[in-house]
Amino acid sequence: MNRVRSSWPRTGAALIVPVLFVALLAGCGLGEGGADRRAMPSQASATPRHDPGRPTTSAPRPTATAAPSIPEPDCATERCVALTFDDGPSAVTTPQLLDELDRLGVRATFFVLGQNVAACPEVVARAARAGHVIGNHAWDHRDLTRLSSAEVEKQLTTTSETIAAATGARPTLVRPPYGKVNAAVTEQIRKTGDVDVLWSVDTEDWKTKSKDVTVSRALAAGPGTIVLLHDIHSWSVAAVPEIVAGLQAQGYRLVTVPQLFGGTVPPGARVAPH
Ligand code: NI
Repeated sequence: MNRVRSSWPRTGAALIVPVLFVALLAGCGLGEGGADRRAMPSQASATPRHDPGRPTTSAPRPTATAAPSIPEPDCATERCVALTFDDGPSAVTTPQLLDELDRLGVRATFFVLGQNVAACPEVVARAARAGHVIGNHAWDHRDLTRLSSAEVEKQLTTTSETIAAATGARPTLVRPPYGKVNAAVTEQIRKTGDVDVLWSVDTEDWKTKSKDVTVSRALAAGPGTIVLLHDIHSWSVAAVPEIVAGLQAQGYRLVTVPQLFGGTVPPGARVAPH
């Protein structure tokens, strides 16, 4: 009897741990378009809750930890390039990328899917704490130009609220999935004071599935370029050290999108003026 009882916790753990691990993988950044679609929560449940009887200052402040000090760039005088990573976070490849960016002392911009933030909020919180900029890439990678205004608003608002719940800060940058915008989508983005951010170099990493092609396309960047990559692909993450080394060898500073524009990102940003 004792033997049966004492062996159960180990057996149970042996069964439960892999199940949890698979569930975590399945829920976090499974690729372009999001094979694993999560329903959008109602706006009320996506909003961070606090006990009304307690002062809001007692709520956890995930971004309170200071990011490591990296000298602020001046992209009006320096040659700057912004690396941007879409469609994450992934529970597997995004932490690998964050480790690499820490090691390189480089900050980037992440346009995240709301459903993936809901699945692994701690990965996004870690990115924000490290000084990376988090932007909104809508909830589940729908083409926003094919949705009603109410659906577009829900895609963007729910994602912003989910990011705010994870990081403590509401994002102000939006990259519409596929870069597709029309007048209605643009109006919806700008109604909330947000700005849409596109790109000027597309590595097409999701299509080539090649680390080397991703590197060579990213190295075609010029001053003020916004480079599009995806942190959900292992080959894209593997390309980052060579991209950073190659651009730095050409005299570029790797910066976030707001840094590229001196802090104020113009709507529809693709490339910084020089
Ligand atoms: Ni995307």
